[in-house]
Amino acid sequence: MPEQEPMAPPHPPPIAPPIPLRRPDAPKPNPAVVPGGPAFARQQATHDADPLSQASPVRSPFTPTQPVQSGAALIGRRPQIERAIAAVETERAHVAIFGERGHGKTSLANIVAGLAEDAGYGVVRHACSAGGSFSDLIAAIVGKIPARYLHRVGADAQEEAKPDHPPEWNVDTATMALQRIQFGQVLIFVDEFDRLAAPNARRDMAELLKNCSDLGLRASFVLIGVAESLGDLLALHQSIHRNLVAIPMPLLTDADLSLLLTQGCERLGLRLEWEAEKLLLQLSHQSPFTAQQLGLHATAITQRRHATVVTAADVSAAARLVLEETRPVFAALLDPLPLDRRSPDGTIWDDLLYEAARAPCDGFGWFIAKDVNLPKCEDDLRTLTRPDSGPLLRVRRAAGRTEFGFARANLRNYLLLRGAERNGVI
Ligand SMILES: Nc1ncnc2c1ncn2[C@@H]1O[C@H](COP(=O)(O)OP(=O)(O)OP(=O)(O)O)[C@@H](O)[C@H]1O
Ligand SMILES: [Mg+2]
Repeated sequence: MPEQEPMAPPHPPPIAPPIPLRRPDAPKPNPAVVPGGPAFARQQATHDADPLSQASPVRSPFTPTQPVQSGAALIGRRPQIERAIAAVETERAHVAIFGERGHGKTSLANIVAGLAEDAGYGVVRHACSAGGSFSDLIAAIVGKIPARYLHRVGADAQEEAKPDHPPEWNVDTATMALQRIQFGQVLIFVDEFDRLAAPNARRDMAELLKNCSDLGLRASFVLIGVAESLGDLLALHQSIHRNLVAIPMPLLTDADLSLLLTQGCERLGLRLEWEAEKLLLQLSHQSPFTAQQLGLHATAITQRRHATVVTAADVSAAARLVLEETRPVFAALLDPLPLDRRSPDGTIWDDLLYEAARAPCDGFGWFIAKDVNLPKCEDDLRTLTRPDSGPLLRVRRAAGRTEFGFARANLRNYLLLRGAERNGVI
């Protein structure tokens, strides 16, 4: 059958290029330092050294395993970009970007860091390792501050002063090291901040942020981490609230995901059939990561057929592939559970989980029992919050009602795929 050209649904216009940061009193570039700063240099180096970047003629615009690197590829985050810019530029505040895994925190940070570098800010980037201490973090950061932003030792000195390295950093020595930043403004991005698990590490960090603000240092921090709230990310004392701008990262809207998918297809010279797009949106359930994952596989399947239209059958095949690839991730959690049996209320848990995964939720994945398309399921949902169920769900009271959420990152999307297969949707 020839592929028909159905009417394309309307799409929101692409986001306008973000407002650039104004140039602060940036120091004159030091020829010894790569223009654009070390993060740019690192990106450049990895790109040049990557044999795949030369070998593959067309790289897919769908990149489920990598955060977004360019503003054009970051969909729907204009309010967050603008908030971050205003925080740093106008308010000289620190920023905390937090949310669930895969919601695009690092992607947002990449774009803000790029804009900051273009505007002449010094940019330092660091990702915390599991169990890292405050001292480890500061040692890494101090070592990465571009020399041209630092205080010079003396008029005759050719070398810029690198801060001393005490064997163990504390809040005072870290503050002194950041006081050595005398030119321009340095933005310090700390990704995976939630991994900083050593006792007092987050309290020390809060102290350091406060010192930077109180002393008017030329350093601002952007903390990025998996957390439900700002309080979960950082041990806050009251007075830090004034100096810290919180940027929560919700799920994307369907309109944004639609743009992400059609834009990606267009870049590959493919057209996304309306039924295929509907299925992609349904299975992605507002997750940028899942949309990227399904987009990557569906378009590869279309290309292997030598076709130019991505069909619902391509999306189904991609979904089954992702389901198989993801099965081992959740096997230990799901396999021991009697998901095919009826609960005392007569509900088959597999059905309940599928309906719960399909339920409309807020930007952070919370939903209420009433929105699950099964009658009287609240008790069964509660049962799934018990530790002997995994737990598969978590529960909380918010705004006077009981809300449920999935207990693991990407579990919602996995259950959607699993349920879609069981119900013959894919
Ligand atoms: N706004 C967006 N537009 C397009 N793709 C996005 C967007 N946000 C996230 N993605 C994609 O989703 C995936 C996850 O993004 P990213 O790594 O930035 O998330 P994260 O929140 O930092 O995840 P983690 O908590 O695991 O570190 C990547 O493939 C990225 O390309
Ligand atoms: Mg990340």
